[in-house]
Amino acid sequence: AKSPLDPEQKPPLAALINADDFERSFEKYGPRKPWAYITGASNDLLTYDANKTCWHKLWFRPRIMRDVKAITTRTKMLGQEVTMPLLIAPMGIAKTAGDEGELALGAGAARGGIIHVQSTAASFSVEDILAAVPKTHPYFFQLYVDRNRKKTEELLQRLETMDQIKAIFVTVDLPVVSKREADERVLEEQKVSLYSGDGVTNKPDKKGGGLARTTGGFIEWQLTWNDLPWIKRFTSKPIVIKGIQTAADAKLALELGCAGIVVSNHGGRALDNAPATLLSLLEIRRDCPEVFTRMEVYVDGGVRRGSDILKAVMIGAQGVGVGRPFQCAVAYNTNGVEHLCDIFQDELETAMRLCGVTDLNKVRGDMQYLNTSEL
Ligand code: FNR
Repeated sequence: AKSPLDPEQKPPLAALINADDFERSFEKYGPRKPWAYITGASNDLLTYDANKTCWHKLWFRPRIMRDVKAITTRTKMLGQEVTMPLLIAPMGIAKTAGDEGELALGAGAARGGIIHVQSTAASFSVEDILAAVPKTHPYFFQLYVDRNRKKTEELLQRLETMDQIKAIFVTVDLPVVSKREADERVLEEQKVSLYSGDGVTNKPDKKGGGLARTTGGFIEWQLTWNDLPWIKRFTSKPIVIKGIQTAADAKLALELGCAGIVVSNHGGRALDNAPATLLSLLEIRRDCPEVFTRMEVYVDGGVRRGSDILKAVMIGAQGVGVGRPFQCAVAYNTNGVEHLCDIFQDELETAMRLCGVTDLNKVRGDMQYLNTSEL
């Protein structure tokens, strides 16, 4: 498939050796409008920046002189076997990053042995995306409830017939699409129809030219906790609430019978000045520790290293999600996505060995390996 990156100049895949390299390569050699849409965040980028820098302020307390020859990164997510506790976070209109869009994300995730969470706002239909992945490979689906609730009911009924989809992640942190200034400033003609598949609207709103606002106008802004029973009427799959940012809301999700939560602020693309997700995760652990034993807790936002995955697991997360670097990897098609999986796998294994850890499932929630004094 054609890559949007300048063919003369883009670095070969082998030259990309960490997650940031994928964003840098897109920034340098890719088209402006997709770059602004994919990597942008709200207002002053405070939450976006904090998501990353907070991981940098959490240190390890490594144990030494242990036999770390044989290790395993394998674990389970909502009952599904995966090679490591990493999800490709749901991201809309992945065709902005390359023609193969979500097909590359799905196929690359399958090759890496991890799960791709497919967005409601994808560039392809669910059926097309599933067809790009081996039948035996599990999938999660991210649901945006539509202002036209009938559409959501029909979508959930359609998903109900698809055994490959093992869970529904309901995103709740974006009742309105916020102002992502880079996306609004880059005024290129918007050919949303080029990118959109199933669930995307194509109505420029009155406030600006952002691709996010143009495509996100369908998202229900009157969704409340009272709507969970309505969602459950149309699906028997486990429900995970994505966008939890406080212990109080984590507790509500638990009380309402959800299978899990994703501690997320939408990668700083929703409320600017929301706390870094690492801080939210620690708040939940402090104020509502039962959440970690009675539900699966995921976290995303600024995770860029295998060592970040290890840190999240040591706090108690079942796994992490990574967004932007994977979207940028689509510019290198399935091989790019697979290569990024390999990088995370290698970094995670190295961090485990250097910390004296052989099995992630044995250190989940074990904060003796962490030093939080700078947080
Ligand atoms: C997103 N995110 C997102 N989340 C969601 O639930 N549904 C969606 O359709 C999208 N779309 C989307 C598009 C793009 C281009 C990005 C970058 C992000 C948020 C995403 O799932 C995740 O929460 C963050 O991307 C995680 O932060 P990092 O890893 O990008 O820092």
